[in-house]
Amino acid sequence: MRRMPQMQENPSASPTNGQILKRLWRSLRPYYGRIAIALTLLIASTPGELFPAVVWRFVTDDIIIQKHGVPWMHAWFSFGGRIHDRFALLLVSIAWMFAVYLSGELLGTLETWMLNRVAQAFIFDFRNVVYQKLQSQSLSYLQRQRIGDLMSRTMGDVDELKSFIVNGIDSIVSDGILWLATIVIVFWSDWRVSAASLWPMIGVYFLLRYFNSKIRPIYTAARERLGDVSNRLQENLSGIVIIKSFNREKEEAARFEEATRKYYDAEVRGINARNLYFPFTRIIGFISNVCMIGVGGYYMIQGSFSVGELIMFRAYWWRLYGPISTLARVNDMVQRAVAAARRIFAVLDAPEELPDNADAVDLPNVVGAMRLDNVSFSYDRGERRTTVLHDLTIDIPVGKTVALCGPSGSGKSTILNLLLRFYDPTSGVVTLDGIDLRSIRRGSLRSHFALVQQETFLFNDRIIDNIRYGHADATMEQVIAAAKAANAHGFITQMRDGYETIVGERGVRLSGGQKQRISIARAFLANPQILLLDEPTSSVEPDSEAAIIAALDRLMAGRTTVLTSHRPSLINQADQVFVIEDGRITEQGTPRELHDSTGWFGKFIRFAEGTIDKDSDEAVVPPLQLED
Ligand SMILES: Nc1ncnc2c1ncn2[C@@H]1O[C@H](COP(=O)(O)OP(=O)(O)OP(=O)(O)O)[C@@H](O)[C@H]1O
Ligand SMILES: [Mg+2]
Repeated sequence: MRRMPQMQENPSASPTNGQILKRLWRSLRPYYGRIAIALTLLIASTPGELFPAVVWRFVTDDIIIQKHGVPWMHAWFSFGGRIHDRFALLLVSIAWMFAVYLSGELLGTLETWMLNRVAQAFIFDFRNVVYQKLQSQSLSYLQRQRIGDLMSRTMGDVDELKSFIVNGIDSIVSDGILWLATIVIVFWSDWRVSAASLWPMIGVYFLLRYFNSKIRPIYTAARERLGDVSNRLQENLSGIVIIKSFNREKEEAARFEEATRKYYDAEVRGINARNLYFPFTRIIGFISNVCMIGVGGYYMIQGSFSVGELIMFRAYWWRLYGPISTLARVNDMVQRAVAAARRIFAVLDAPEELPDNADAVDLPNVVGAMRLDNVSFSYDRGERRTTVLHDLTIDIPVGKTVALCGPSGSGKSTILNLLLRFYDPTSGVVTLDGIDLRSIRRGSLRSHFALVQQETFLFNDRIIDNIRYGHADATMEQVIAAAKAANAHGFITQMRDGYETIVGERGVRLSGGQKQRISIARAFLANPQILLLDEPTSSVEPDSEAAIIAALDRLMAGRTTVLTSHRPSLINQADQVFVIEDGRITEQGTPRELHDSTGWFGKFIRFAEGTIDKDSDEAVVPPLQLED
């Protein structure tokens, strides 16, 4: 497959972080209700976090030192002054502290559970949306992309959003609320010591801005490099037979290592940036701590600040500066999530390349006449455009078999691609029963086709599942009938598990000819009006070919068929032959008419026949052995 430019975000047009986050937030709309519940739980749980420190102050100042206390708490804990015993008061304080703390812990747990559920549900939906988008994309789009990279976007990048939703929302809101509440409490308690402890925070703001500008490109690069790794892995595993047969394991391992190293380097750059950032926040925190003790101690000696207050401040100091490391963590998470979301949105935003016409209709029944009318086509739309088909007009009458022949690369498979509307012609029209394919809804259009290719793709499922792939509700009798018609029943029943046999990845446990017959059975069961056969017998042995041709003969009966082939045995079955050379029709007629042509077809046929030993003519097309 030719490499074309991959999906890359155009930096000048790429949305800002803010826009990405906004869009991410909008995609969370179906979960707003549950997020609101989680946040309510979160807010309800905050007293559990803040209350104990006030109790510490109360215990120190009111119960132990007995001065400079917290009067409202005294009134509350002593049941309006009814408890005087200090030990009893201590017990009540501890009981309250414990109760409030525990309720906070409980609500917090509920909240975390809820957010986790939301995140999982979101990821579940989101991943399916990405998949559906990918699946609805045109072949040409998918062929331009790297499969491994798309997998990495669908898997890794989507997962990256999960941790952002769970920890991000939780941390931003909970730390934000706690932080603000703490500021109110400490300022209300003593503004002088609070101000002294808080001013170093200004440094954090600048630190964060600097950090973000550094880290953003690093994380974007890291996501891209991970896509490269995934791509290399995917490609190497699918090409493992070639790699092994050419002894290229070492080289491929080196190339894989190079890809992983680039990812590693990007991640290390991220670690370096983070490591530079965190010590600075700790230094700022320590300065604040020093200021708090210094200024607090000063006022304590002066007599306007109590021991209990200092203990409380110390407890809250962690609350004031803890969020800075959280902020750093959350910020880090946001940057990662944005980098991931950017890649996912690029997939979701890729325009549909083959839109149906606005007036496209469903076509439940077709007669099956097709026509290419003055069709030109090129795969590339850009500057490197090379025309593959030039002004072709081909009539494919109902129920007839049309064979496309010609040298390799002349455009035969491309014509089949246009008939199936995997691509639209650059100019001219392709019609089915006289209707432009673009005016037929794609799903409805393709339901009238079956495609049998040279390389059959089987899913790693049971044989029966592969046969009824397009027809999940087919009965066992129908499956067997289709398999018999495809000359496949015999070899299937000889297998130990029969129709229940698992075929292995891409059908590795079956021979080429067996796979082909399963794909023919699949086409039988689909019972389409139009049949497209792309070199259906090219990858099978001559003896196996006979069984396949017999099966195809039965399949083609009564259907409109377009086939491409390099095998005279199959071409001779056609009613009409078109010879395509360099994207142009150079000869056309029945196989008999063309037999003695001086052009490509004549040479081809004579070559094919000349290579056949006259005495063993039968061996090429042996008597057909039908199974039923
Ligand atoms: N997906 C694609 N993107 C770009 N160019 C393509 C693509 N598929 C095929 N081509 C080009 O289009 C031309 C026609 O290819 P096509 O597959 O139709 O040939 P073919 O006649 O089926 O050949 P063969 O007999 O070898 O199967 C070739 O030059 C090929 O390089
Ligand atoms: Mg081809």
